[in-house]
Amino acid sequence: MPEMDKEGKKFYVGVRQKSELFYVKGSTELDWGMKNRLARIFNPKDGKTVMLAIDHGYFQGPTSGLERIDISIMPLVLYVDTLMVTRGILRSMIPPSVIKPVVIRASGGPSILKELSDEQIAMDMEDCIRLGVCATAIQVFIGGEFESRSVINMTKLVDAGLRYGIATMAVTAVGRDMKRDAKYFRLAARICAELGANFIKTYYTEEGFETVTSSCPVPVVIAGGKKIPEMDALTMAYCAINEGAAGVDMGRNIFQSDSPLGMIQAIKAIVHDNEKPEQAYKLYESIKNSK
Ligand code: R5P
Repeated sequence: MPEMDKEGKKFYVGVRQKSELFYVKGSTELDWGMKNRLARIFNPKDGKTVMLAIDHGYFQGPTSGLERIDISIMPLVLYVDTLMVTRGILRSMIPPSVIKPVVIRASGGPSILKELSDEQIAMDMEDCIRLGVCATAIQVFIGGEFESRSVINMTKLVDAGLRYGIATMAVTAVGRDMKRDAKYFRLAARICAELGANFIKTYYTEEGFETVTSSCPVPVVIAGGKKIPEMDALTMAYCAINEGAAGVDMGRNIFQSDSPLGMIQAIKAIVHDNEKPEQAYKLYESIKNSK
C-alpha cells in the first residue's frame, strides 16, 4: 500500500494565482504549445531573437559562405537564438544535440533560374513535428506573378500549424523590379498577419520602417539582404530594433562577412544589449583580429 501523503498547509488561500499576458506581440490568445515554441524563438529576457538564416540553398544551391555548413556555420550556432534552415541541411549537417529552436523552410519549387514566385508548400506538417521544429517559414509574394497562390499556401501552413501548435513565419518576398519601401512592407506584412502568420520577415527600409512594425499586429524580424559593409549592416540592425523589430533573421551579412564569428556576436550585442553600432563594430573587429 502506498505511503499516505502528509497533509500540507501551503494553500495560500486568498493569494490570487498569477495569470500573465504573453510577451510575444499578438500571441496572447494562442495555445500553450504554440506560445512555448514562440518563447523558444523570441528570447523571454527581452522578446527578441537573433535568427541565423542559412536556408538560401533551397533555391540557389551552394550559396557563397554556405558551401560547407559543418565547417563555416556550426561555430556560429552557439551565439544564435534560432536557426532558420531547410530540412535537408538539418538532417545532414546539424547534430541533433544542437538544442536551438529551428524555423524550417517549408516552401520551395523554383530555382533561381525560374520565376521565384512559383513556390509551393514543400514540407508536410508531420515532418515538422518529427523534426521538433518551432515554426515553419514560407515566402509570400505580394504583387508577384503567383501572389494569390503564395498567400493561400501560407494560410494552409497556418491552418496545419495551428492544429499542432507550430508557428508560421511569413517571409515577404519582393520581386526583382519591385520597390522595397515602407508602403510595400506595410501592405505585405499586414496581409500576412491578417491571414494568420505568427511573425513576419521583411526587409528594413530607411524611411518609415516604424510604420511597418507598428501597423503589423505580430512581431516583425528583418532579413539582412545582400552583403553590405559590416558597419552598414550593424547600423541597419540597430535602426530596425529601435524602430520596433523583434529581431533579425540574417544570413549573408553574417556568413559572407570576413569574420562571421565577429558579426554574429556584434549583431547579438545590438539585438539583446541595445549596443550602439560603433560599439558593436569594435566588438566585431576585436573578434576578427583575435584570430
Ligand atoms: C530568403 O528568401 C532567404 O531564404 C533568407 O532566409 C533570407 O533572405 C535572409 O537571409 P539574408 O539575410 O541573406 O537576406
